[in-house]
Amino acid sequence: MWRMADYDLIRRPRRLRQTPALREFVTETRLHPADFILPLFIADGIDAPREIPSMPGVYQHTPESLVEICREALDAGVKCVDLFGVPREEDKDATGSVAVAEDGVLNRAIALLRKEFGDELIIMADTCLDEFTDHGHCGVLTTDAHGREVVDNDPTVEIYCDMAVAQARAGAHIVSPSGMMDGQIEQIRRALDRAGFADVAIMAYSAKYASKFFGPFRDAVGSSLKGDRRTYQQDPANVRESLLETELDIAEGADFVMVKPALPYLDVLAKIAEMSPVPVAAYQVSGEYAMLNAAGQNGWIDYEETMMEALMSIKRAGADQIFTYYAIEAAKRLNG
Ligand code: PBG
Repeated sequence: MWRMADYDLIRRPRRLRQTPALREFVTETRLHPADFILPLFIADGIDAPREIPSMPGVYQHTPESLVEICREALDAGVKCVDLFGVPREEDKDATGSVAVAEDGVLNRAIALLRKEFGDELIIMADTCLDEFTDHGHCGVLTTDAHGREVVDNDPTVEIYCDMAVAQARAGAHIVSPSGMMDGQIEQIRRALDRAGFADVAIMAYSAKYASKFFGPFRDAVGSSLKGDRRTYQQDPANVRESLLETELDIAEGADFVMVKPALPYLDVLAKIAEMSPVPVAAYQVSGEYAMLNAAGQNGWIDYEETMMEALMSIKRAGADQIFTYYAIEAAKRLNG
């Protein structure tokens, strides 16, 4: 067996930490602006951007401010945005029909960005109904044999298919089903292919947890949800089902898989990064952003540095792409 005493030298881990140049030389993980995906909210019926109270610096956008921030993202080296629609309250209904309508707020925004930026900007769209339903669930509701109100899997997936095709038609490069319905990736893949959109990619929310860290997002989209999503999103206590969900999504045709939230689920991310043959993304969610921001505003932590450390940790754990509301600021810091 190897023993320190066998050698006439002492291992000194600090040797390689002596200077900035040495530290940069031996660093194992490097963030890059192109790692980031910027989530953006486009709201119907507002005439000026509206800051989200629980997410300082994050806005519900008008078409004009949306184009502006996408330009700013591109200038900073961020290549991809993920669009969420915020319809007018009176346009919500039980099936979220505005999500599919060509003139719905999200589809109009996709078309606008595609027209403005062409293929320069990678346009991703959220493919889920919770922003559009009047009950706030991610799918349509039914009453089961025992009188429980539940989200009805297959009819929901059918609507996701129509939504994905509408998004592809509007100009999305990537659709991102975030509703955690069973079989959604396979059905959406088939629907896209049938409609002539074989080149549109699917970002699968594979391991998405029923997380309280989504709190501020629900403010951001004016969610109508009462109750929770525990019958379709995963139990925070479990990791095995993340592997199952991911394997299924890959088999069903996912081009990317994703873990969400990020920082509280780095163990899940690391496991998925080990087994996945497709790129693995992680979503630093609204609550992660809000916590760091609030602590920073109180002077309790250094917001910018802590944020960069969190993003670095997410990459180190295995993320190839990172969704973050801090994308532009992070990219600017990296650009120096
Ligand atoms: C569902 C969706 C949610 C988020 C992204 N897509 C909310 C939810 O599942 O309740 C959360 C994002 C965040 O918290 O930043 N369409």
